[in-house]
Amino acid sequence: MDIKVFNTAVEASEFVAKRLLDLITAKNSAKLGVATGRTMDAIYHRFVGLAQQMQLDLSQVKAFAVDEYMGLEPNSPNSYRAYLDLHLFNKLNFKPENLFVPDISKADIDAIGIEYEALIKKAMGIDFQLLGIGLNGHIGLNEPGSSLDSRTRIVALTGSTMGSNKVLFKNEGMPLTAITMGIGTILDAKQCCMVATGETKAEIVQKVVNGDISSKIPASALKQHPQAMLVLDKDAASLI
Ligand code: GLP
Repeated sequence: MDIKVFNTAVEASEFVAKRLLDLITAKNSAKLGVATGRTMDAIYHRFVGLAQQMQLDLSQVKAFAVDEYMGLEPNSPNSYRAYLDLHLFNKLNFKPENLFVPDISKADIDAIGIEYEALIKKAMGIDFQLLGIGLNGHIGLNEPGSSLDSRTRIVALTGSTMGSNKVLFKNEGMPLTAITMGIGTILDAKQCCMVATGETKAEIVQKVVNGDISSKIPASALKQHPQAMLVLDKDAASLI
């Protein structure tokens, strides 16, 4: 895993935004795996700004959300779909039919993951998978104990994830379950880029970097990927 450390979160975000731009400039039909969370805010902000400046054409780009909460109200502002619309999808000229988020409105919940995997396969896989990391080492919402070859499926959220994300919920309780690309699904991407900023992530980053590959720390699985990058600011890198 290639580790890059920047002085500030802004510089780390700028680096990742430029990687995305370079990828799409080189391949206008690039397929992206897109994460959500506070770490992504600055990355999408910078990416959108640069893409608008360059008048980058995203009409052929496909984007697949890494995860989504289950059991939300239809059109919930707390969904990851709403997050991605707000920070990314609605700001650029993506085509709606090229944007994919697991369809939680489906009555047959076992079919949601199977259908999502089929959509990724039909698109011939993901070129660039963007990821944050949870305080417990989750990627997407693959919580500790997730099998390293897991596929898109419904998962129960841990207390750690509920504790760190419930502050983001407005006018609605936080769900207990979600659907996430599996670790195996994530590792199928041609390139993975995991980003961590701020000192709250220093401890888990240390465990990922210095520990073994283990399902106890899902993010450690990226160390077995031939093209994985870990982008950090100084604070998140302070214990490695
Ligand atoms: C959330 C998201 C993850 C994200 C992670 C980090 O639960 N589902 O995809 O990577 O946790 O979030 P943040 O950047 O807000 O710390």
